Amino acid sequence: MKRIVVLDAISDDACKRLEEETGWVVEKRLGLAPADLPAAVEDADVLIVRSSTQVTAEVIAAARRLKVIGRAGIGVDNIDMEAASEREIRVVNTPGATTTSVAEITIGAILSLARWIHVGDRSLRAGEWRRSDFQGFELKGKLLGLVGFGRIGREVATLAQAFGMRVVATDPFLDSSSVQGVRIHTLDDVLSRADFVSLHVPLDQDTSRLLGREQLERMKRGAFLVNFARGGLIDEEVLAELLERGHLAGVALDTYATEPPGASIERILAHPRSLLLPHLGAQTREGQIRVGMELVETVAKAIKKFMSDRANRLAEEREAQEAAAALSEAGEGSPESAS
Ligand code: MLT
Repeated sequence: MKRIVVLDAISDDACKRLEEETGWVVEKRLGLAPADLPAAVEDADVLIVRSSTQVTAEVIAAARRLKVIGRAGIGVDNIDMEAASEREIRVVNTPGATTTSVAEITIGAILSLARWIHVGDRSLRAGEWRRSDFQGFELKGKLLGLVGFGRIGREVATLAQAFGMRVVATDPFLDSSSVQGVRIHTLDDVLSRADFVSLHVPLDQDTSRLLGREQLERMKRGAFLVNFARGGLIDEEVLAELLERGHLAGVALDTYATEPPGASIERILAHPRSLLLPHLGAQTREGQIRVGMELVETVAKAIKKFMSDRANRLAEEREAQEAAAALSEAGEGSPESAS
């Protein structure tokens, strides 16, 4: 029996449709501690994860039957891609499913930072009435700097432009000077000019700590940083220091170097204007329905491809064996072999 083992929660509907599309059994093994993962994946032909489970080289080695890893979401930074590729395990994700969800919450955070929405709420709940302390500013005319101008970055730009914001972006994969009314600049230019900097790049070895001391200090005094991408893109210690020094006016974070973040973000948590969320960017009803649909489609396709590649390989091997057998039969009867 072939098994699809689900390690992070996806919808029941997606699980049901995975079974229907593939004919393989879906089993949920949710919320496991890292130490329990190798034993839990031994009989898995397919693994399904979101961002919580770390699919390390050790996990991949333990899953001896593994053929496909389905990532319900965009980032594949929680999967050891090298270990997967060494075993020719296909990794598929759902790149377009949550673009709108992440873009909308990014704009929500920018608005909240500009207008003290989250701070005002906390203050009122604490029994205060501090209207004069929370004078904000309008987004119209302010400069938004996007680090990463792929699907999500472009959607954020469209929404920000609707608020009258000016938008610049940096993206190593773009060489044109302007896309969708957004001028493309170097990272340094974007950081030094923008009123808000928002990150929309994947986490990999090139982008790890992309915003270290030098880059964070390059940001304009009084600017805001928004990160709904990955915590590992930023040096959190330096960020805390720049907030305490008043170099940065505020920050909105949804992702952290380790999740849940624990003590590592205490100093950022203490900053009066920080807005900190528990990795909610993709967490919408519509986004997760689309994730389920895209996941079923891509995983089923990857399984079919695996099966047809295997059938072709077996057919080729059988043909080669038959040809070798025919050759040796012919050889045995030939005059040369008799001499
Ligand atoms: C993503 O990479 O798409 C999200 O971070 C996934 C998630 O919310 O788990």
